[in-house]
Amino acid sequence: MVRYSKLPFRQLCRDYAVDLTFTPMLVAKEFTRHPHARYTDFSTNELDKPLIAQFAAKDSVTLSRAAEMVYPYVDGVDLNCGCPQTWACQEGIGACLMKSPESVRDMVRGAKSHLGNDFCVSTKIRIHADLRYGFIDGINVGIRWSLLDRLKVRVLISFQFMDG
Ligand SMILES: Cc1cc2nc3c(=O)[nH]c(=O)nc-3n(C[C@H](O)[C@H](O)[C@H](O)COP(=O)(O)O)c2cc1C
Repeated sequence: MVRYSKLPFRQLCRDYAVDLTFTPMLVAKEFTRHPHARYTDFSTNELDKPLIAQFAAKDSVTLSRAAEMVYPYVDGVDLNCGCPQTWACQEGIGACLMKSPESVRDMVRGAKSHLGNDFCVSTKIRIHADLRYGFIDGINVGIRWSLLDRLKVRVLISFQFMDG
């Protein structure tokens, strides 16, 4: 969570036997452009594992570059398609990606082809009132969505691309 899940909070969570932690959402465009953004937004240490870096991005090249930068320090990256804040939607990142499954597909494919198929790339989505929304679209663009864990309003999704 933005402003919360930085290194000290993640360490505290690990003291309570949390299995997996995520960084706050990092805006991939700023992260790749400015060293200052990287230094202020991302810190880790050798005890901070397993760790997923969560990014907001809207294109494959930017997400892949950001993922490459954190690759030595994390166990995967997560694309945030759940942030509903107005500024994020105006930027074309976050929850508005729920309406662009092709973009999500391209970003996930791009990051995995750049860093290797074994590199974990997940997405966070919102569940809409109609659960078929997004799900059916995702199937239609060649994504098989598999629910790994479902809480009331949160799901962790892994992408598996169908053959062909
Ligand atoms: C202050 C604040 C910061 C958040 N930051 C993130 C974030 O960085 N990444 C993320 O996936 N969700 C973030 N969330 C969303 C929460 O993790 C959670 O999914 C959400 O609050 C639940 O959905 P709802 O707020 O629509 O009920 C944030 C929420 C709040 C209130």
